Amino acid sequence: LVIIMDFGGQYSQLIARRVRECGVYCEIVPFNTPIEKLAAMNAKGIVFSGGPSSVYSEQAPVCDTKVFEMGVPVLGICYGMQFMAHTLGGKVSHADTREYGNTKLYVDLNQGIFSETEKETQVWMSHGDYIEAAPAGFSVTAHTKSTPVAAMADEQKRIYGVQFHPEVVHTPEGMKMLKSFLFSICDCKGDWNMGSFVDQAIQAIKAQVGNKRVLCALSGGIDSSVAAVLVHRAIGDQLTCVFVNHGFLRKGEPEQVVKTFRDGFHMNLVYANVVDRFMKRVEGVTDPEQKRKIIGEEFIRVFEAEAEKLGEIDFLVQGTLYPDVVESGTATAAVIKSHHNVGGLPEDMQFALVEPLRDLFKDEVRALARELELPEDIVWRQPFPGPGLAIRIIGEITEERLDILREADAIVHQEIKKADLYRKVWQSFAILPAMKSVGVMGDERTYAYTVGLRIVSSEDGMTADWVRLPYEVLDAISRRIVNEVKGVNRVVYDITSKPPSTIEWE
Ligand code: XMP
Repeated sequence: LVIIMDFGGQYSQLIARRVRECGVYCEIVPFNTPIEKLAAMNAKGIVFSGGPSSVYSEQAPVCDTKVFEMGVPVLGICYGMQFMAHTLGGKVSHADTREYGNTKLYVDLNQGIFSETEKETQVWMSHGDYIEAAPAGFSVTAHTKSTPVAAMADEQKRIYGVQFHPEVVHTPEGMKMLKSFLFSICDCKGDWNMGSFVDQAIQAIKAQVGNKRVLCALSGGIDSSVAAVLVHRAIGDQLTCVFVNHGFLRKGEPEQVVKTFRDGFHMNLVYANVVDRFMKRVEGVTDPEQKRKIIGEEFIRVFEAEAEKLGEIDFLVQGTLYPDVVESGTATAAVIKSHHNVGGLPEDMQFALVEPLRDLFKDEVRALARELELPEDIVWRQPFPGPGLAIRIIGEITEERLDILREADAIVHQEIKKADLYRKVWQSFAILPAMKSVGVMGDERTYAYTVGLRIVSSEDGMTADWVRLPYEVLDAISRRIVNEVKGVNRVVYDITSKPPSTIEWE
């Protein structure tokens, strides 16, 4: 076990993730965790995270300094190093200009965390204060042009500090440094893996839930699926999943969810088939926000009704990931679209939350999904909005228009998969605009719908670019849609990025 002490840095979870990537189990604890508790954790190493404070500010987070006397190796990053220097008798000063971004690091002593790195290497800096003089007993192990003490070490006491961020990708040799710390200095084995995560998560879920009953809103997307399967492994039939089919799902989707979870995983699954109910509610509605609002509210009502039928339930499973935790904690952005997430439930529902994925990043959830033997279709499923196809039909939603979009979308899906692009793009789907145009088929004039293609690349959905799809793939999609989907005579490709457009059209 390695302890990561969180001093409020934005990268604390990223440090944890890198440590996990090295095959070492770690836990993040607050900076003010009592020393007795730290000692009881019996850690092989401790990492101090960065943080936004200056050691001289009154609110500066400080930890018990006995931590340096426990005989456990410590690595301080950024603020963590400044705190270390300040506490152990070095000199921390305020720089006139903030050092930010890519910086060349000159390694003075190729030992300790630098035993595997080049003498000159690129690192990522982000700091205002800097260390002018290292404390007694420490050697300066690296510097940059503007930072005299960019890294320091007391090899005897096994205390190390770096001003830069080894955990970010912009520090290409950062993993080598972390590995040297974990393996050579802390003597970690590196045999932790997703299987161990599953074991630990199961223990934690059992301890939290006891013999109480648990509910989960299952969408068939990767996050809620992985969370549900993990909780099911821990507590079996104490878990009930509710899957709501609002009628705006893709072709074959409801069947696939029922088959996977009921037949495959033998889970208690309530399948709420409420297609008619939703269709009635959206009849004649064309305003995008109105659609989202109606579907979100109706979803909650269905879910509440199903939950009520089940009797007393104490816990609710949510597939919250670490990036969601960060986003909701810092969300100040204007509402561009009111997002509806399956499981975005009203506050007056009295449940305690079970959130087994809270510490994980998306790709770790994929690894976990594979460990839990979820089908590939779910492991690699592209994001799909809560209101589903309803917000990909511009204008009025009718059965006929839903069928057209569903068929066209299935063709996009098949062709993108066939071209081996499904995993490489962020999303690839069809849109049905509210427009018809004239065409000619056989010798007949047609007047039929246009289908739009939206295929984008993105890191996180916040920004996106349209994919430069090979012409042959575009051609195959276009031909198949016009030939196979009745009521369509034209296909267009959306070539706008986000911003200024959004990924979805509504
Ligand atoms: P936009 O259209 O805002 O979409 O560029 C960004 C990403 O979010 C997805 N999206 C949603 N996801 N509930 C969701 O869970 C929603 O209501 C919703 N609306 C958009 C969208 O598919 C894209 O990946």
